[in-house]
Amino acid sequence: MSVIAVINQKGGCGKTTTALNLAAALAQKKQKVLIVDFDPQGHSSLGLGINEQKLSYTIQAVLLEGVPAETALIHIKDDLDLLPSNITLASLEQKLSGSDGREYYLRNLLDTLRQDYQTILIDCPPHLGLLSVNALLAADKVIVPVEPSRFGLDGLQKLTETIETLCKKVEHRLNIKYLISMYDLDSDFSATFCKRFKRDYGETLFDTKIHRSSVIREATHAGQSVVDFDPQSISYLDFLSLANEVILWQNKAIIENVINSPVALPQPTPLGICFAFKDKSAESVKISGDFNNWTPEATPLIKLEQKGVWYTFLPLKAGKYSYQYVIDGKYQPDPANPATEISPFGVKQSVVEIQ
Ligand SMILES: Nc1ncnc2c1ncn2[C@@H]1O[C@H](COP(=O)(O)OP(=O)(O)O)[C@@H](O)[C@H]1O
Ligand SMILES: [Mg+2]
Repeated sequence: MSVIAVINQKGGCGKTTTALNLAAALAQKKQKVLIVDFDPQGHSSLGLGINEQKLSYTIQAVLLEGVPAETALIHIKDDLDLLPSNITLASLEQKLSGSDGREYYLRNLLDTLRQDYQTILIDCPPHLGLLSVNALLAADKVIVPVEPSRFGLDGLQKLTETIETLCKKVEHRLNIKYLISMYDLDSDFSATFCKRFKRDYGETLFDTKIHRSSVIREATHAGQSVVDFDPQSISYLDFLSLANEVILWQNKAIIENVINSPVALPQPTPLGICFAFKDKSAESVKISGDFNNWTPEATPLIKLEQKGVWYTFLPLKAGKYSYQYVIDGKYQPDPANPATEISPFGVKQSVVEIQ
């Protein structure tokens, strides 16, 4: 289970867009997700179709007036709940000033909710005051959306330093990742910006970029995530790809374990059966088997750049499966798997038995 704060003191860089669409994409992938609107502007509530002025209860009432969280929670759709906010949250900083443990109000609240969710996403306000400190101390992971512009870089170092100083002071561990949030496909500037950012920030930059697209504005206007608004759109694909990366991030230890094992046999993990193939020079690796009707296009493997490992997770039920890898268009059995059979067409293919 993880709590992810989406934070950047710069307004308009895509925090709310990231929080609510990533939440919807994770829910689409069957995670149970809670989105905590922790900005007095109430934008993630609004963006999910909730009129924040008409709310009876908000997170402010839960944190300060003893209203049970269940009373304020809004069920948005299957696997996605919202803890809404509105302008009343703006008074929280002042009301808490001087009170003991004021930095831990949100963490204490989320401790009572975490068993019900696989991911809790916190949409932070555009400044680094007490609300943001509460969000950071409640979280174990941080996503920083970055707009590819000179202004987008401004303040980023200060943000990273602020987070590091806070963590050191109270001995808190946070894992930070950066996300390019408004990528212009037709601009050389965006491409150059990303290259430089990757050089400076390396592994901490998500491979996924969120393209600038009118679908995002239209969906927000309609009070929906892009997942529900337009499942054909580039924005939908962007957030699904981000959700995949986040799931990998959350399960890093399991994946590294599989990848670092000497032979990459298909292995059961909590994410499904992990198929991993080691090849540094391949351009594309897919898998073809009876579990996907022998259509490799349906199951491309993801490349872990620096290790030359390709992998995917498939939710297979117990049973016996035949498969082949497709490397740059060429079919071959799994070199790590000694179990093979000859197909009715005379082709050697690998076999795996899932218990
Ligand atoms: N990738 C994108 N393409 C087009 N518009 C976007 C994109 N990301 C965000 N926006 C728009 O930019 C504005 C600011 O985004 P928002 O997510 O509210 O930023 P923040 O929460 O950081 O203030 C909103 O109107 C939003 O719809
Ligand atoms: Mg916002």
